[in-house]
Amino acid sequence: MLSSPGRHGVSSGEIDQLRERALHELQEVTTHEALAQWHARYLGRRGEITQRLRGLGSLPADVRPQVGRALNALKETLETAYAERERIVRELELAARIEAEAVDVTLPGRRPAIGTLHPVTQMIREVTDIFAHLGFQVVEGPEVEYGYYAFDALNIPPEHPARDVWDTIFIESDQKEIVLRPHTSPMQIRVMERRKPPVRVVVPGRCYRYEAVDATHEWHFHQIEGLAVDEHITMADLKGTLAEFARQLFGRERRVRFRCDFFPFVEPGVDFAIDCMFCRGEGCRVCGGSGWIEILGAGMVHPQVLRNVGYDPERYTGWAFGMGVERLVMLKYGVPDIRYFYQGDLRFLSQFERIPI
Ligand code: PHE
Repeated sequence: MLSSPGRHGVSSGEIDQLRERALHELQEVTTHEALAQWHARYLGRRGEITQRLRGLGSLPADVRPQVGRALNALKETLETAYAERERIVRELELAARIEAEAVDVTLPGRRPAIGTLHPVTQMIREVTDIFAHLGFQVVEGPEVEYGYYAFDALNIPPEHPARDVWDTIFIESDQKEIVLRPHTSPMQIRVMERRKPPVRVVVPGRCYRYEAVDATHEWHFHQIEGLAVDEHITMADLKGTLAEFARQLFGRERRVRFRCDFFPFVEPGVDFAIDCMFCRGEGCRVCGGSGWIEILGAGMVHPQVLRNVGYDPERYTGWAFGMGVERLVMLKYGVPDIRYFYQGDLRFLSQFERIPI
């Protein structure tokens, strides 16, 4: 202990005070930042202890060793206390962080948003499923198509007025005509070219038409084509198949109607209608007051089409049909405007229930 008087500026009492003050302040320190400040204040290059050690030289020689020892002892005490406090501060800070970042495992989780299949995709699956169970195979074909398959082979020669019915988007018209297919019927030809009867296929796919867009017309839409060719295939098979299809899709109680229609690739051609499921035939806005809703075009495959693919029309007969998928969805779910399908608006799309993928 130091006993000499304070006239040299470093009395034992003063060193005691300094120790008390430093240790007391250290107790208050709870962050690394405050800890660094404390260290600078007492033990740093300009710190109180360091300054005093430097000032030793100006003390009288007789007290110098004593004061020096006392200061060094104090320095050691503070260094030890500092190291101990550093350990505590690290624990305090860790505890504070764990507290701040704590996860409440009892909170309900955030559900990931799971989309639904597009209503057109759902309808394609529903329709092709029905036909698959009736023995039809599902095939697909190109959306960019030769004029030959889109028209010529389907008995629609160049310059034929019926060619205007399909407002076609042309890709190439100079040499070999190339178009965006305006219907799925070209696949009738592609399928028959590749295989021998019996043929039973349905063909879903995108189609394109150069068309002014309104509530019932889109320049891009989907069709499902159907084709059955074999020996002894008759119009009665067509009627039975389509009636069964319509009843599976729109309800067992549906009545069906066939009326004459014209398509160059069938003879005879028909349009196929069901009684309106909204008014049950009474007449309403959906069926335009007629009580009937047309859902597809069909007919017996034209003999010339069979000849075009090398089938003998004396031996084989067949029928084909084509329907618009968006229109089926609109009828089944009462969608008033075809434009909703391709606006990507979740308020519309999420109304269609999720079916297993
Ligand atoms: N391809 C015709 C259309 O787009 C529909 C159809 C297909 C008609 C097959 C008869 C037979 O309108």
